[in-house]
Amino acid sequence: MEFQPRMSFRRFRYAADPLCLLGIALYILNRWVLKPHVASAFLHGQFDDFWLIPCALPLVLWCQRRFGWRDHDGPPTVGEVGFHLAVWSVLFEVIGPRIAPVTGDAWDVVAYAGGSLLGLAWWHRDRIGVASVGKGFDRLAPFYRTMEWFLAGGRLQRCRTAALDRVAVPGRLLVAGVGPGRFLEAVLERWPTVSVLCVDASEAMLEQAGQAWCRAGGDPCRLELVQAELPGWRPPAGAFDGLATHFFLDCFGPDEQARVVRDLAVGAAPGAWWLVSEFAVPGAGLSRWRAQAVLWLAYRFFRLVTRLPASRLNDPDPALLTAGFRLERRRTFEWGLLRSDGWIRA
Ligand SMILES: C[S@@+](CC[C@H](N)C(=O)[O-])C[C@H]1O[C@@H](n2cnc3c(N)ncnc32)[C@H](O)[C@@H]1O
Repeated sequence: MEFQPRMSFRRFRYAADPLCLLGIALYILNRWVLKPHVASAFLHGQFDDFWLIPCALPLVLWCQRRFGWRDHDGPPTVGEVGFHLAVWSVLFEVIGPRIAPVTGDAWDVVAYAGGSLLGLAWWHRDRIGVASVGKGFDRLAPFYRTMEWFLAGGRLQRCRTAALDRVAVPGRLLVAGVGPGRFLEAVLERWPTVSVLCVDASEAMLEQAGQAWCRAGGDPCRLELVQAELPGWRPPAGAFDGLATHFFLDCFGPDEQARVVRDLAVGAAPGAWWLVSEFAVPGAGLSRWRAQAVLWLAYRFFRLVTRLPASRLNDPDPALLTAGFRLERRRTFEWGLLRSDGWIRA
C-alpha cells in the first residue's frame, strides 16, 4: 500500500489561488479601464509591480513543480517568496535598465515587497489567526482611519452623521462598536457637553476613541470606555436616551445580531433614539452587483484579519423591530450601498 504523508498544510492551488486571480483581474481593470482615463503615477507605475509576486509566483512555482524542482504542493514558503523577490528585483531594476531601454526605480522594489507581504499574509493566513475579534481589530486600529480615508474618503462619516441634526439632544449616549471614534468628533461638535459610554471589544480601538474625544475638546470625565465583547455585555437598564451603532451590527450573523440588539436595547430609555449606519444591498441592477462585489471583498478582508464571525451582510431591521424600535427615517447613499437610519423606541 502506498504511504500517504499526512498533509499539514493547506493545498496551494497555484494559478487558481484566489489572490492570484484577484491580482490578474485588477491588472486587467487597471490596464484597460483605469490607466487610459486616470493620470495617477501609482496606477501607471507601482500598481502592476505590487501584483507581480501574487500573480506571477504561483505560475512560476507551478512550472517548478511540473519539472520536479519543487517537492510539495504547499503554499509558497518565505524562502521561495524572498528568493523570487530578490531575483526579480535585481533582474528588473538593476540588470534590465543596463541592457534594455527601461529605467530602474527603488519604488518598484518597494511595490514588489508590498505584494510579497500581502502574498505571505494570504498564503499563510491559517498561521496568523487571532484569538478573538477584539485582538483582530487591535491589529487594524493603527491603520483604520487611513484605510477608511483611502477607500471611502468622507462617505462613511457622512453616513454616520446624516441623522444627527434630526434627533433630540441626548443626556447620555451609548456608542457600541465605536472603533477609532470618528463619530465622537461629530457628536462633540454638535453637543459639547454630552456624556458618552463607548463599548468595544478592541482595546486599541477604545484607546483611539479616547484620544479622538480629547483631541476634539471633550471632557474626559464625560467619557466612559468599556472593553467588552458582545453579545453578553449589557448596559445599565434604561440609562441612555440615545444609542449609536455604525458599521457594527454587520459584524454579526443573524442569531448573534439579534442578541446584540436585544442586549443593547436594555440600555434604551422610553422614547430613546438609535442611529444605525449599515451597508445594504439594493434590489436590482448595476448598483446591486456593485454592492455585492464591495461586500464580498470587505467580508473576506475582515474575516481574514479580524476573525469576524459574520461572512455576509445581515439586515438588522427585524432585530430592531423585535426589540421594540420603530424606523423613523432612512437615508441611502452611494447607489444604495450605505444606509443611515434613525430608529425610535416605541
Ligand atoms: C467595522 S468596525 C466599525 C467601527 C466604527 N463604528 C466605525 O463606524 O468606523 C467594528 C467595530 O466593532 C468592534 N467589534 C466587532 N465585533 C465586536 C464584538 N463582538 N463586541 C464588541 N465590539 C466588537 C470592533 O472592535 C470595531 O471597533
